[in-house]
Amino acid sequence: RLVSMTEMLNKAKEEKYAVGQFNINNLEWTQAVLTAAQEANSPIILGVSEGAGKYMGGATVVSAMVNALLESMDITVPVALHLDHGSSVESCKAYIDAGFSSVMYDHSHFPIDENIEMTKQVVEYAHAKGVSVEAEVGTVGGTEDGVTGGIQYADLTECKRMVDEAGIDALAAALGSVHGTYAGEPVLGFDEMLAISEATNAPLVLHGGSGIPEFQIKKAIERGHAKINVNTELQQQWTKAVREKLATDAEVYDPRKVIKPGFDAIVKTTKETMDMFGSTNKA
Ligand code: G3H
Ligand code: ZN
Repeated sequence: RLVSMTEMLNKAKEEKYAVGQFNINNLEWTQAVLTAAQEANSPIILGVSEGAGKYMGGATVVSAMVNALLESMDITVPVALHLDHGSSVESCKAYIDAGFSSVMYDHSHFPIDENIEMTKQVVEYAHAKGVSVEAEVGTVGGTEDGVTGGIQYADLTECKRMVDEAGIDALAAALGSVHGTYAGEPVLGFDEMLAISEATNAPLVLHGGSGIPEFQIKKAIERGHAKINVNTELQQQWTKAVREKLATDAEVYDPRKVIKPGFDAIVKTTKETMDMFGSTNKA
């Protein structure tokens, strides 16, 4: 019952809202974001980085868990299970074989010709199985899964080549966003964004969605973003709620009770984020 991102992102681009990619870390995290999506009647993309996939026991475990939850929770909204920042063609293929309905192949730190060539290989494999592919041009700044890098703006010609030559379904054109927390207000290239959106006609993906003020999110959606990735924000809200529980309840020792406030915080934050992205009631 998982679906690829293609249809949900094309619809979002057309109707000018964004579908959120919310990264998951464990069973309860997955239950929380799925609960939010169902309650908000919103499509959702479950993001799994290679680090998180490994943490949860591998791609097949994640895929089995998510598929079982879709059944047991009676989830009826569109759900995509997406590999976030896949680091090699082999890794993308392994996640597709395990049942993921979407992958991001991130070869953005390499020369554009090589990036396009390798992405094409992922697209061929993925599309034969109805799986969608996202690629990155330019580089997102900040730290994710311990990997730190600087910002490099996406080049319009390279973006157009990536979309036309590799045939991808979604384009992460890096334009100043960073993973993790922002030092001060984000400085996003809104003019470049519009130009890239018009030149490529592809749904754009905004990485580093945590900590971007609402007016900038709205502007990014207006200028072609149909997918926004959120990871850090949920981690911060979960940790804050669990820390608070431990600080205020010296008696608690049942792990289910320790992390219950974290679950509630994720549901609340995810629903608020879906409202901000405009995807509520767009299932
Ligand atoms: O790929 C994942 C996202 O880009 C997450 O970024 O942790 O800053 O929200 P974030
Ligand atoms: Zn990212």
